[in-house]
Amino acid sequence: MGQSVLFVCLGNICRSPLAEAALRKECADSELNVIIDSAGTGDWHAGHPPDVRAQAVATKNDVEIGHLRGRQVTTLDFQHFDHMIALDNQNLQDLMARRPQNAVATLSLLFDHVAGRAGEDVFDPYYGDDDSFDETWTVVTEAAKNIRKMLEAGDNIPIPLKQR
Ligand code: 4NP
Repeated sequence: MGQSVLFVCLGNICRSPLAEAALRKECADSELNVIIDSAGTGDWHAGHPPDVRAQAVATKNDVEIGHLRGRQVTTLDFQHFDHMIALDNQNLQDLMARRPQNAVATLSLLFDHVAGRAGEDVFDPYYGDDDSFDETWTVVTEAAKNIRKMLEAGDNIPIPLKQR
């Protein structure tokens, strides 16, 4: 049986598409049957491709994200996905507020998947410069390696680091 992961940020055009791409890249050579997606808590960028600076940093790291389109988180996501991973604490709060009674998804922060950094926010590069996007790529890649290990550990095994 496969597992599924949804990364969630605010706009779904900078951080969560990069997290999605990093985990896809990390899982590309594995036998894992995993569904990976991303969404935003907001709807301003629904239907939009990722920020051009996010596309550029992905290309630089040998992944293409230009075909992705922004979408807003839905109530059904909480039933469809095994893991919903928020990029910052505000995104996590927003998810907790919208979590329905019948949710199956575990909720965690991206940095909960990086040893020693649980609870931290992934800085929003939307308001930063090109270096901020490189930094985003670095941290989502670090987390993706650990998330891959979590997925490889198998279904029904709780998130090894702090779970919200
Ligand atoms: P993201 O960045 O949440 O990493 O996709 C943002 C993108 C757009 C906006 C805010 C954050 N915005 O306000 O339009």
